[in-house]
Amino acid sequence: MIRINPHYPKLQASYLFADIARRVSAFQQQHPDKHLIRLGIGDVTQPLPPACIAALHQATDEMANAANFRGYGPEQGYDFLRQAIATHDFQARGAQIDADEIFVSDGAKSDTGNIQEIFAQDVRVAIPDPVYPVYVDTNVMAGRTDAAVDGRYPGFVYLDSTAANGYVPALPSEPVDLIYLCFPNNPTGATATRAQLAAWVEYARQNRALILFDAAYEAFIRDPELPHSIYEIPGAREVAIEFRSYSKTAGFTGLRCAYTVVPKECMAWDDSGQPVALHALWMRRHTTKFNGVSYPVQRAAEAVYSAEGQQQVRALIDGYLDNARTIRRAFEAMGFACTGGENAPYVWIDAQRDAWAFFDLLLHRAGVVCTPGVGFGRCGQQHVRISAFNSAENVANALQRIRQALQ
Ligand code: MLT
Repeated sequence: MIRINPHYPKLQASYLFADIARRVSAFQQQHPDKHLIRLGIGDVTQPLPPACIAALHQATDEMANAANFRGYGPEQGYDFLRQAIATHDFQARGAQIDADEIFVSDGAKSDTGNIQEIFAQDVRVAIPDPVYPVYVDTNVMAGRTDAAVDGRYPGFVYLDSTAANGYVPALPSEPVDLIYLCFPNNPTGATATRAQLAAWVEYARQNRALILFDAAYEAFIRDPELPHSIYEIPGAREVAIEFRSYSKTAGFTGLRCAYTVVPKECMAWDDSGQPVALHALWMRRHTTKFNGVSYPVQRAAEAVYSAEGQQQVRALIDGYLDNARTIRRAFEAMGFACTGGENAPYVWIDAQRDAWAFFDLLLHRAGVVCTPGVGFGRCGQQHVRISAFNSAENVANALQRIRQALQ
């Protein structure tokens, strides 16, 4: 008799965004004439930068003749892209990351979900609350928790992010080994200062812990004081893995390209107490289970770093940032406490009532889709997240409808 992984039944019935999609489609079936405005899932809506499109076309043409055709590429990514990443995303900001420490992949969701499998079953995992659900679910699937009680999994150390701490969690009071951090944050849109990240790096160094730093929204940072990478913090190379993505940076959600940085100094310990380089472990895992991102897509990602690409990507993100500021101002004017919406594409709104009830109200009365905060954790029970990933026109219409619905 074939048996299932006994940890899967511990998961919530479905993934948050699948759950929302089901509710929205049920509503749409009942109200086929209602035009919905989607400010829920953080999926980009604006087209790819022209520099990326040109690179895609050119690479596709190269694949059309035998002289230039490429089959399997290096699993970790082509040198042209890894070198561009190391130069522009890190060395240009004073962070010492080399091209061979970069692993190109199909998405930060896959990487942040897969990374946990190189660590021991009994590592103590610190999970911020609210949090991107992938970090939670993948550790549950791996068997690092018991079944959830009141929406929380025994086995995790939860790090509350609330208005009281400015949505940047305090260091844990009990020892932890693996720490997930995401800044600019999904879902709250909060950012972490250099001093705040330095405290986490120091904690990890003191406790032989490892930080998994999700910087998927880094490109939204406009404040010159804020760090873009954890490697801008001295000492981070030994205690942090960083995840980046072109999804939100350059509109690649439908194209798929991201990367993970594993510095060579990053260590974990084997059963006999010997340090093992995580770079070698991740290389082994990545080359075994992944065959690389397609050549045209890597050329498109490389084009992000060209002079035109940089200009186009900045304009793209400026548009979403304008939306984010507009959303935050509108909700504040309606009397809601908000965070995010600056240096981030998400606005986290204290709805002052049950998150799903507010979600339903916006859906039914305004025809606007948001994300109920409770889907990101217990601290989001009374919050919703509004995403800025839409056109300025749709955002203006959505806010107009919400104002009317809440009158
Ligand atoms: C979100 O809405 O939180 C994001 O779209 C999730 C993701 O990037 O996978």
